[in-house]
Amino acid sequence: MSRPAGPELSVVEAGPDWAADVLAVVRRAFGPRPALEPPSTALDESIGSVRAALAADGGLLVLRHDLPVGAVLFGQGVPGRLGLRRVSVDPAHQGHGVASALVGVAEDVAEARGLDGVWLWAREELPDTVEFWLRRGYDEVERTGPWIRLAKTLWLARALPTADDTRAFGRRLAAELTAGDLVVLTGGLGTGKTTLTQGIGAGLGVRGDVTSPTFVISRLHPSLSDGPELLHADAYRLGGGAELDDLDLDTSVPDAVTVVEWGEQMAERLSESWLEVRLELFDEGGQAALAATGPDRDDPPPVADSREVRVVSVRPRGPRWATVRLRSSLLG
Ligand SMILES: Nc1ncnc2c1ncn2[C@@H]1O[C@H](COP(=O)(O)OP(=O)(O)O)[C@@H](O)[C@H]1O
Ligand SMILES: [Mg+2]
Repeated sequence: MSRPAGPELSVVEAGPDWAADVLAVVRRAFGPRPALEPPSTALDESIGSVRAALAADGGLLVLRHDLPVGAVLFGQGVPGRLGLRRVSVDPAHQGHGVASALVGVAEDVAEARGLDGVWLWAREELPDTVEFWLRRGYDEVERTGPWIRLAKTLWLARALPTADDTRAFGRRLAAELTAGDLVVLTGGLGTGKTTLTQGIGAGLGVRGDVTSPTFVISRLHPSLSDGPELLHADAYRLGGGAELDDLDLDTSVPDAVTVVEWGEQMAERLSESWLEVRLELFDEGGQAALAATGPDRDDPPPVADSREVRVVSVRPRGPRWATVRLRSSLLG
């Protein structure tokens, strides 16, 4: 048998000329699926409907050794977000990373189009499919009958050359925050978590200086007007476990914007919705200089160095942020 031609996997942006290949993959993927009630309308697609969809919003086709084996149609429906429709993998080519390639490139397309994220409908009768999306960082943001709306907001990042830039970014963030919101700041010692919180406090217009709460775990700053108060918690020095429970991080505080400084990258969800904000300090070579810093407050703060580059990355999680367009307000 001769070696198959073409690369193992390639993903092409599919315009209307690809309608026949896309339709064939959709039919191979959806044909053998169990009948659902109400049934999926994927098998009602025709060359004409697929061509029209590709002409309007585009789509992707995955080729495996030049053979079309995966496809997706792009759609809209949520301003600022790329919708995914008819996510299809040929069952004869499962287990080769076709679905992952589709999702990865779709997210790249969303970013290239300046969009905030990606969303799709999944069926609750297909738990493996739902699990696939959850594993890739998609959150359930809505349920309507058997339909689950899943959404992922992409990381947005910007460099922060000075401490004033960090404070200014906090002020921009504050403009998007309302009572009940939870912001989780992660990053090593000296990356700017407290500085960012100072900017949030200034933006919200709260009383009192925001400082590292060394002897207390959290501090409440009342509003100087009728806006939300700021609850500033510093979990950086906590070892985790029982002490963390004291912080009640699983519930946001309804009257306050809660900002938690956290030492490491947060792995799992703390609340239904929160803003994940990562602060990192890179050296000139692009390596995270403080990634391995221990949570020891006696360590001297790192000396500012012209070769250091600080970067903030934000990723909104959960339904609270599913339709908020942070990319333009924070980066624009
Ligand atoms: N973008 C920045 N560029 C340069 N220095 C910064 C920046 N952000 C914060 N700093 C400085 O870094 C030091 C540590 O900041 P801090 O906010 O206390 O860090 P953390 O709370 O993460 O430990 C402070 O002296 C602060 O002024
Ligand atoms: Mg701090």
